[in-house]
Amino acid sequence: MKQRGPPLARLTPNQGADPMTLLADSDEWRALRADADALANTTMRALFAEDPKRFARYSVEAAGLFLDYSKNKITDDVLDHLMALAGAAKLEAARQAMTSGQPINATEGRAVLHVALRDFAMRAYHVGGENVSPAVERERARMKAFADRVHAGVHKGFTGKPLTTVVNIGIGGSDLGPLMATEALRPYWIEGRRAHFVSNVDGQHLADTLSQVDPQTTLFIVASKTFTTQETMTNAQSARAWLLSKGAAMGVAESDVSRHFIALSTNEVAVTAFGIDAENMFRFWDWVGGRFSLWSAIGLSIALQVGFSNFERLLRGAHAMDEHFRTAPIRDNMPALMALVGVWNRNFMGCASHAVLPYDQHLHRLAAYLQQAEMESNGKRVTADGAAAPAATCPVIFGEPGTNGQHAFYQLLHQGTDLISADFIAPAFSHADLGDHHQKLLSNFLAQTEALMRGKTRAEAKDDLIAEGKPPQDVERLTPHKVFPGDRPTNSIVMERLTPETLGALIALYEHKIFCQGVLWGVNSFDQWGVELGKVLAKAILPELGAAGEDMALAEAHDASTNGLINRLNAIRAGNGKG
Ligand code: F6P
Repeated sequence: MKQRGPPLARLTPNQGADPMTLLADSDEWRALRADADALANTTMRALFAEDPKRFARYSVEAAGLFLDYSKNKITDDVLDHLMALAGAAKLEAARQAMTSGQPINATEGRAVLHVALRDFAMRAYHVGGENVSPAVERERARMKAFADRVHAGVHKGFTGKPLTTVVNIGIGGSDLGPLMATEALRPYWIEGRRAHFVSNVDGQHLADTLSQVDPQTTLFIVASKTFTTQETMTNAQSARAWLLSKGAAMGVAESDVSRHFIALSTNEVAVTAFGIDAENMFRFWDWVGGRFSLWSAIGLSIALQVGFSNFERLLRGAHAMDEHFRTAPIRDNMPALMALVGVWNRNFMGCASHAVLPYDQHLHRLAAYLQQAEMESNGKRVTADGAAAPAATCPVIFGEPGTNGQHAFYQLLHQGTDLISADFIAPAFSHADLGDHHQKLLSNFLAQTEALMRGKTRAEAKDDLIAEGKPPQDVERLTPHKVFPGDRPTNSIVMERLTPETLGALIALYEHKIFCQGVLWGVNSFDQWGVELGKVLAKAILPELGAAGEDMALAEAHDASTNGLINRLNAIRAGNGKG
């Protein structure tokens, strides 16, 4: 059954990339809306039944990853119209603008060149007329030399012991990427080394971590692009104080701080003001967005834990995906296809949430990482030129590793009232060679997308109950509960094994998907003004909060709720009861 939208001949591709027109009032958008209407009464089951080649036609392979997107409610017409949308949004030109160093992050006047960080071909990338590649290579060489010195035990702690433990202090992009990748590469950990990640300003996070480490053997990495972030600076100061007090009995001196603290930042002035020697600072640049920075100096904690050569393999894997993204036509381009199918699900199928479901325990922080990558990038309600976004933008991203999620929230995916799209990710081989665990894991991975696509009809549910021998009144009563509507859209991403290369490719796949979706929705994916207001208000509230046991004046400057909560917390902390 071929679903027909308006014929493409009537479309006017390249009518302009104005998102207002493109998203609300274009032939491309209307064609997709008509496709969605035409498909309303067609099931994915039927689409599979009528086309035995559906899997082959709606799948693509690149950089060690295989993407099956056939379990989305798409047809050739839908894809044609999505391609027309990409054409009207000038996606290819936008891709070129990014890789040529244009300041596409217009609200901050910055280029977006994380691809330059992993281009070992040393292609020239220009920012403001300057080729940044030599500086990238220089900094990478410094990182490697430092990692080698730490691994060889040449860079020692204050009692002469090697630094075998890393505590990375950072938040957001200066935490989530390195943490996620370090966990993902657990099989590559260097024996005897341990990496911890402290992000939350909640002192319990730092205290819990410090209780597990030895000051003599711990290297603190203060990771902050701006070196002004409250959480990171507070944690770094407290860690510094801890080193000096804990190490006092062992003879630590102020001057030893420089052995135990290094910085990853773009802000040399703030780093040296903090007391870290510029020699112990590893630089990156304002054209590296925080959430795209794990490939830069921000990845040093990864390199220290898995070795520099494995860190390089990660970068090379990402580069392989970059090359695919840069050169493949949009119709065969994995990140672009994922982005376009995502737009189809978000804007035409009505998916307001999107689940990331890795069937690999080592990817247990992937969803958290992508929450920042996707939602901080595309969670925008105005387009790049400041107009109200005429269509819905980024869905809510959430997820957990399979099979844990199956026993938690998949109920809602299968039978909830909202339609939720999902990415299922699995390696063919596990690093753990344990009996038939991996076949069991894979059988769940496969069964879930099949179930989400096929569902179970009323007649099938009824037949099952009858076959189970249920009495007629129970069959009637239970049937509605046993129906699965199906038609839940999913992508499946498979790879041979989770290695540094495939992990790099996977992350780059999502980065480019995010970029493409930003172009299609017309938003600036590279700023994050939405995090500012809360930061400013927290600064204002801080002096209104007392220390434990301190009596404070009643707060009056805010709304009744905020005043009331400040007063209640102050009263509890002062030991005065309710406040
Ligand atoms: O609060 C948002 C944010 O600016 C993120 O975009 C960034 O990754 C994080 O804070 C940390 O920033 P920094 O690396 O400058 O400390």
